[in-house]
Amino acid sequence: MIQFPKNFYWGAATSSYQVEGNNANADWWPWEAQAGKERSGLACRHYEFYESDFDLVKSLNHNAHRLSIEWSRIEPREGEFSKEALQHYVNVLMTLRVRGIEPMVTLHHFTNPIWFSESGGWLNPLCVKRFLRYCDFVVRELSRHVHFWFTINEPTVYFSHAYLWGMWPPQEKSIFKMKAVCDYLNDAHIEAYRLIHKIYQEINIAPPAVSIAHHMQAIVGCDQSLKNRFAVAIRRQLYNLQILDYLTRHKALDFIGVNYYSRHLAHAHSWWIGNLLMETCQEKHHPLKKNSLGWDIYPEGLGTVLLDLKDYKLPVIIAENGICTGDDNERWEYIQSHLKNVHLSLQQGVNVTGYLYWSLMDNFEWAHGFGPRFGLINIDYNTQQRTVRDSAKKFAEVCKTGILEVI
Ligand code: FCB
Repeated sequence: MIQFPKNFYWGAATSSYQVEGNNANADWWPWEAQAGKERSGLACRHYEFYESDFDLVKSLNHNAHRLSIEWSRIEPREGEFSKEALQHYVNVLMTLRVRGIEPMVTLHHFTNPIWFSESGGWLNPLCVKRFLRYCDFVVRELSRHVHFWFTINEPTVYFSHAYLWGMWPPQEKSIFKMKAVCDYLNDAHIEAYRLIHKIYQEINIAPPAVSIAHHMQAIVGCDQSLKNRFAVAIRRQLYNLQILDYLTRHKALDFIGVNYYSRHLAHAHSWWIGNLLMETCQEKHHPLKKNSLGWDIYPEGLGTVLLDLKDYKLPVIIAENGICTGDDNERWEYIQSHLKNVHLSLQQGVNVTGYLYWSLMDNFEWAHGFGPRFGLINIDYNTQQRTVRDSAKKFAEVCKTGILEVI
């Protein structure tokens, strides 16, 4: 039996575009059509069904819930801010609060308004100013309901998928553009961090807790060769720690939000910089069970990345951790094995204060469409019926008692 601290945050996460439905003013919307992808369409219709969805959240004993605000609803055309959309999110937050659930709010989760993308997106030198104007509008109104803010979800995943690998809109493939976007996103976070704190000070409420949700993989060498050890060391610094070092140097993190799913098996066949930085093992040297997207399941990696965060001396919230699978037993195994590693890191002195499963419900998994099933709650997309999975019920016991019965 393992016991988690009292006051631990337990819950699940979603993002607006993936669950709300009908986000026709976001850049992903036309892109899905152009790129011939599955359409997000009505998604889970969570924009309409959030109240009953939060009844389920409550029944699952979650005391926290992460969601995102859809910028393209708030500002559908440049400079035109929708009071109605803002009011919707006020209602959403109040619905959580009356159920005793702590909202944790992301301001940018991969999607942008179409007007923003059409005028250069995160490569336009005005991007940070535009993002801050949106943040200002939202945070002023929502500050009374929110303590925890995530400014940007997974900056490293966003800039690499959208600007280096060409996999997401705007499908750029340029290392220089990626670097520019990386710099703008860092600035956007730092400026938003300061703005949010300033607003809380102005209206005289207790200081907020602001972070990013940072994607971290366990970076492991395929073997112990000098090349691979070197590759692991530089990747660990570059992919996992650099952004945190940068943001802490600017005193722009109150806690660290971590999204953890899998490992990255480094195997550099040569000393060429491209291989050192990116080559992974293709030879199934250390096979592991995989989720339905083919990502390795590697629970001990969560322990490793959490231990890497100890030196920052900040509270850590696991803002996402989860599995897509057609076998719900695997989901419960995944949750248990990862929670054991969270517990281990607590014993090692890492100040983990919360765990949010990805995701509350099955949803639109970006370029993969609706195939992958990450949810604690099953969605029947034909009827929009919600069915609570067994894994959700087992997790609900942990949320209620703070105790994981380990076998
Ligand atoms: C993360 C994203 C989240 C979801 C999960 C599976 O990288 O933040 O939106 O797609 O992966």
